[in-house]
Amino acid sequence: MKKSMTLIWLVVAAVISFSLDSDCFARKRTKEPVYKNSAASVEDRVSDLLSRMTLEEKLLQLSQYTLGRNTVENNLGEAVRDVPAEIGSLIYFGDDAVLRNEMQRKAVEESRLGIPILFGHDVIHGYRTMFPVPLAQACSWNPEMVRKSCTVAAQEAYSCGVDWTFSPMVDIARDPRWGRIMEGYGEDPYAASVYCRAAVKGYQGDDLSAENTIAACLKHYVGYGASEAGRDYVPTEISDQTLWDTYLPPFEAGVKAGAATLMSAFHNISGTPATGNRYILTEVLKEKWGHDGFVVSDWDAVRQLVNQGMAKDAKEAAMIAFNAGVEMDMVDDLYKNHLPELISEGKVRMEQLDDAVRRVLRIKFRLGLFEHPFASETPQEERYLFPESVALAEEAAAETMVLLKNEGGILPLNPECNLAVAGPVALSREVHNGNWIARARAEDVITVAEGLEKEFKGRILTAEGCGFEGDDRSGFEQALKAVRESDVAVVCIGHKAGWSGENCSRSTIEIPQIQIDFLKAVKAVGKPVVTLVSGGRPLDLREVVDNSDAVLMIWHPGTMAGPAVAGILDGRYNPSAKLAVTFPYSTGQIPIYYNRRNSGRRGTQGLYKDIQSEPLFEFGYGLSYSTFEYRNLTLDSDKVSPEGKVTASVEVVNTSSRDGQQAVLWFIRDPYSLITRPVKELKFFEKKMIPAGESMVFKFEIDPLRDLGFVDRTGRKYLDSGEYRIMVGGLEAVLEVVE
Ligand code: NOJ
Repeated sequence: MKKSMTLIWLVVAAVISFSLDSDCFARKRTKEPVYKNSAASVEDRVSDLLSRMTLEEKLLQLSQYTLGRNTVENNLGEAVRDVPAEIGSLIYFGDDAVLRNEMQRKAVEESRLGIPILFGHDVIHGYRTMFPVPLAQACSWNPEMVRKSCTVAAQEAYSCGVDWTFSPMVDIARDPRWGRIMEGYGEDPYAASVYCRAAVKGYQGDDLSAENTIAACLKHYVGYGASEAGRDYVPTEISDQTLWDTYLPPFEAGVKAGAATLMSAFHNISGTPATGNRYILTEVLKEKWGHDGFVVSDWDAVRQLVNQGMAKDAKEAAMIAFNAGVEMDMVDDLYKNHLPELISEGKVRMEQLDDAVRRVLRIKFRLGLFEHPFASETPQEERYLFPESVALAEEAAAETMVLLKNEGGILPLNPECNLAVAGPVALSREVHNGNWIARARAEDVITVAEGLEKEFKGRILTAEGCGFEGDDRSGFEQALKAVRESDVAVVCIGHKAGWSGENCSRSTIEIPQIQIDFLKAVKAVGKPVVTLVSGGRPLDLREVVDNSDAVLMIWHPGTMAGPAVAGILDGRYNPSAKLAVTFPYSTGQIPIYYNRRNSGRRGTQGLYKDIQSEPLFEFGYGLSYSTFEYRNLTLDSDKVSPEGKVTASVEVVNTSSRDGQQAVLWFIRDPYSLITRPVKELKFFEKKMIPAGESMVFKFEIDPLRDLGFVDRTGRKYLDSGEYRIMVGGLEAVLEVVE
């Protein structure tokens, strides 16, 4: 009896405990997981989600595939049905949100944990509304314009389903044969750092989770611009000193500005490929700078460690890249295929895998993707080419065109005059969008001829004259006839859009001979010649300068090319751009850049015997319709302690009768130092409108360590005491740092 009573009690207790347990279980099950709770902190959500993930799910978070159709035919993206619902990221080739949302629905509704996908795309200088290429933007000396152009790009991309842009590209480039020089902000580390911050701010805003903001990606980390002989993807030779004083600063600035991600570069850095480089990816980026976002490889770059001779096979490539600190594998799928085995062999640590997944999830939470996984499927007119965006694109284009010559003040032209507008660029739309055009369309572009026709009251005759290359001169005569019948010839020549950008190295920076011959034929007619030059790199402009009265470098200015050109030619815009990159005298001078170190032999020694050794146009060169004079450079003290502050001031007078903007560039020089330094280093710049006949005071507040200090080859910033020069507009003052 007792026994049976005990048994009954045991059964009852078991039933009660089971029902309690199952009740508990049910309650646990219905309780929303922390990762789904938007009120919880990002870190708690990440930890909670991570604790629920299988190895397979983690690996997919570190993988990036493609979706949709690329404009490049040989690079088609996959279809939704072929992509696993658990994929971490997709490069999105669609041009509206529909396909993206279809895939996102699959991820959110069909995967076990419902982790949204991060959709990335190359939005480099605009999405549909095209802005000037970044190299041109750098010539504006207007970071606020750069910020605003990135804000427009972000809004357009976001409304078409893009969460993440592979931009800004902040590779310092000093070799214009390298086609990708067009994608960056030029040759100077300080300028690139300022523009990098502006771009990050423009894309990401103050709150990544807000509408119309997208995550930025600093690329290509690091030193890709040092490509030997200007060839793409090839090895580079970069000393630790140069890495720190030249190539790393813009990345550091971008990381400090909060850039969510970085992309590792394709190239080899003095023996260690960037994608397998633990020093830069982990020791510098994560341990020294504390970056808590993630690094994506470049396209197929993990696999390329095999071609580069670092890894013996794909599996080893995955191990090297992952252990070095590349968290996401772009398209080559090596992490998913090889990390499980590498983990079981103890060659990749589970903690590092978790850390990598944590970094990816963190960005997804910060972007608000868990709360708003879908993009709104709005009609086209609600997504892009807004009037205010297009107006900004015109201002940006006008602010980036560099006036290189204006003999006898031929510009601005009288809008009543009759123009012959000729050359391969005159009627082209494609040329103005440049390379890396996201979803831009040629049909949106206003040509130079159209811009002039709209703005000028005189008669406009147009003719192509010649093609971009080849030797067909059959169009010359019709164009020359137009020139004879006009007051001024506007000759529009240069490089095509596709001649700069990725995999677009050229052995010379010349403009094809047919175009030069055409220009010379026009010049021979005897009418004033205004030459517009398109291009995404510094070009050899010797013959262009010799055969033109005025030369305007228009770069690839984007959608509003025509109105911007017309506005400059008739004076509606007063040019204010200055070169952010040196224009060599000829290809043979490359590499040439302003912030080189001094040679031991000065004077005439070491110079070229066959050509001049000075560039054709220096960094910082650019004319305006106004004239400016710099006066009264003063320091509020000629001595400063390392912890002190000193302000330099200069008066800039607009000595003309036309209001004009002036970008004032402040340089410093440390004349002697154990680690020798460049002859000039840009440390600050500011641009202001100065009314005709008036003057303005520009100031540079010098923080000694920040502005006069230097880095050593370990990245340690130091400040030497002694003499420094402060230079602006041809004036110079001496400042002493005293202990
Ligand atoms: C390769 C390029 O180097 C990189 O800049 C770009 O972001 C990726 N492809 C993705 O298109």
